[in-house]
Amino acid sequence: MENRLITFDERNKVFHLHNKQVSYLISVENGGTLSHLYFGKRVKEYHNQLRYPRLDRGFSGNLPGSLDRTFSRDSLPKEYSSAGEMDYHTPATVVRHSDGSNALFLTYKTYKIEDGKPDLKGLPHSWVKDKTEAQTLIITLEDKCSEFEYDLIYTIYRDRPVIVRSVKVRNNGKDSAYIEKAASMQMDFGNKDFESITLPGAHANERHMQREKIGQGIHVYSSHRGTSSHQMNILSLVDPDTNEFNGDAYGFALVYSGNHKFEVERDQFDQIHLNIGINDFNFKWKLKSGDSFQTPEVLMVYSDHGLNQMSQAFHSLIHDRIMRSKFKNQVRPILVNNWEATYFDFDEDKLRPIVDKAKKLGIEMFVLDDGWFGHRDDDNSSLGDWKVFKKKFPNGLGHFADYVHNQGLKFGLWFEPEMISYDSDLYKEHPDYLMQVPGRKPSPSRNQYILDLGREEVRDNIFKQMIKILDDGKIDYIKWDMNRHLSDIYEADLPADQQGEVYHRYVLGFYDLLNRLVTRYPNILFEGCSGGGGRFDAGAAYYTPQIWASDNSDAIARLTIQYGTSLVYPQSMLTSHVSVSPNEQNGRITPFDTRGAVAMWGDLGYELDLTKMSDEDSKKVAEQVAEYKKIRKVTQFGKFYRLKSPMNSNQCAWMTVSQDQNEAVVTVVKIMAYAQPYLTKTKLVGLDPNKQYQNIDTKEIFGGDELMNLGFYDSVEHGDFKAKMYHFKAID
Ligand code: GLA
Repeated sequence: MENRLITFDERNKVFHLHNKQVSYLISVENGGTLSHLYFGKRVKEYHNQLRYPRLDRGFSGNLPGSLDRTFSRDSLPKEYSSAGEMDYHTPATVVRHSDGSNALFLTYKTYKIEDGKPDLKGLPHSWVKDKTEAQTLIITLEDKCSEFEYDLIYTIYRDRPVIVRSVKVRNNGKDSAYIEKAASMQMDFGNKDFESITLPGAHANERHMQREKIGQGIHVYSSHRGTSSHQMNILSLVDPDTNEFNGDAYGFALVYSGNHKFEVERDQFDQIHLNIGINDFNFKWKLKSGDSFQTPEVLMVYSDHGLNQMSQAFHSLIHDRIMRSKFKNQVRPILVNNWEATYFDFDEDKLRPIVDKAKKLGIEMFVLDDGWFGHRDDDNSSLGDWKVFKKKFPNGLGHFADYVHNQGLKFGLWFEPEMISYDSDLYKEHPDYLMQVPGRKPSPSRNQYILDLGREEVRDNIFKQMIKILDDGKIDYIKWDMNRHLSDIYEADLPADQQGEVYHRYVLGFYDLLNRLVTRYPNILFEGCSGGGGRFDAGAAYYTPQIWASDNSDAIARLTIQYGTSLVYPQSMLTSHVSVSPNEQNGRITPFDTRGAVAMWGDLGYELDLTKMSDEDSKKVAEQVAEYKKIRKVTQFGKFYRLKSPMNSNQCAWMTVSQDQNEAVVTVVKIMAYAQPYLTKTKLVGLDPNKQYQNIDTKEIFGGDELMNLGFYDSVEHGDFKAKMYHFKAID
């Protein structure tokens, strides 16, 4: 049937998921072994030519009870492998049975094809608008001995080069058992000389692109910090000659905000074996008889036109089918945040002039950051006490919110709901809410501790406190922060044999609390944050359509951070602010224009004391704000292209083009200045070659073909860190 996205060839036992862009092929082989055949550019039909050759391989054993020495699960590309079968790759799943063994031998049992896509309860996930938009294949594997079943769930969208995978594990046996590992996906590629691209980093230095050859062995890209982390994000596998515009690129993003593990193994036969899912470090999930466990989803994108096309597919998927907030389609307000302006040293009197000045400059929202609650004058107290600090706001928070609103600005507020300070009323009342291992002293980080969010009682307490403030209806935006990683892993409500569930239960608790709030307050714009971009992931995007990308607000450092971030995440998800120079994080001195141009990459804001600026800089803010209002529809929602990478180069350039190709905004940043500079050109992409475009500033007119084929010379200016923005509009 024309409309079918998934077919099953009964005779050859081959599943084919296909749309106009991609094909994904799976076969059932000897002994019910589910084998991976292909993921890549679409084929109309598969004629069984790509059967894995049978070979007798030494030290790669065979199926139990079989005399066929040419078939081995150790060499065959598979879809999901377990410990306990003759396969020496890192397994996708490990189960510890009541007899102490971890044997599992998964064989094909049955399949089901459904229209649309099932929701994942309690976990963020991609969704469909209606059932015609996608189809889902559920292949059930079973271990006959233990009666464990695995549903491998695959969704293919009609119009996207994307497959979404997850796994549901069921214990149909009599006894409880423990899942020690359950990856969301596995995939094996034969004959691929892949390189990996990952986004490692650190606090204030997140997500810079790292490209590496994959040598034989197991390469692990992971986090076991309790969150998706500043330190490691996503994976892409590319051919050695793949670049931004050409070549095969596969992208994998986990829709999850906790511990993750991307395992890439180049095996003895140079095949690439891939597992992605929740990190199995300190993971042990008790599955009672009759219970099931659902893994998070993985988004898998294929591009035959390099990394930009891969990124665009991710951007559109995450924006259109992961984010739910109504704000995702609205241009984002330009804000001023008082953090770098005042840190903890503020009160209502000190903030009012900043609000007044913001109004004058055309800024649209004032965000009150850390320090407005409990008795918090520094970062040593009050987390967990979400009551206004009377010393700073003697007339209450509502009074100040009214002031901000009366100036015509929206009002935003900072929370850090997952934390507790020793010096807090919450700790005095409920010391057991603080996550700690009995008999041991918990480790502080920023002198704060983790709330045991896996417990409903703890979440209820924080929820009740927060709604007391939010029910007033005076808060338009929330910045949800998280300023440390997890340690002292223990949940007071759980028995000893379930302490391996704590990390995941924490993440489920985080989702539950956030979900309750975003559902109750659909008119509040939520921004995610974890010491900057410590939880910048597709799972968080389901709840918060934008995230503070980094605590590093230096424009030049932001080039690599934002460049890497753009590999997967849409630019409207990335918030970026202009701050003071010399920069507070690294002392770099940069021109005001450059700081503005780089911050306009994402959702623009200001993170400085507007009342302490020179008249010249104030004028610049007003100009930037006015300019941004003209271009933000294109820069926030247009098709995004990386043009020049700042990694090991002296330039960074990117552009966005409106969906109708009538408008484009281009930014080129030169990093260091030279006395005898080499001349560089920038060529545009994504324009209509048959349209004429006018440079809005200079009024010059160029053909789309000229801008794309000839390009233009980059301006030669004195001084380091110079940025230039170009705004083009199509003319009739
Ligand atoms: C984190 C955030 C900052 C700021 C501080 C406040 O570091 O990323 O933007 O909100 O917390 O403590």
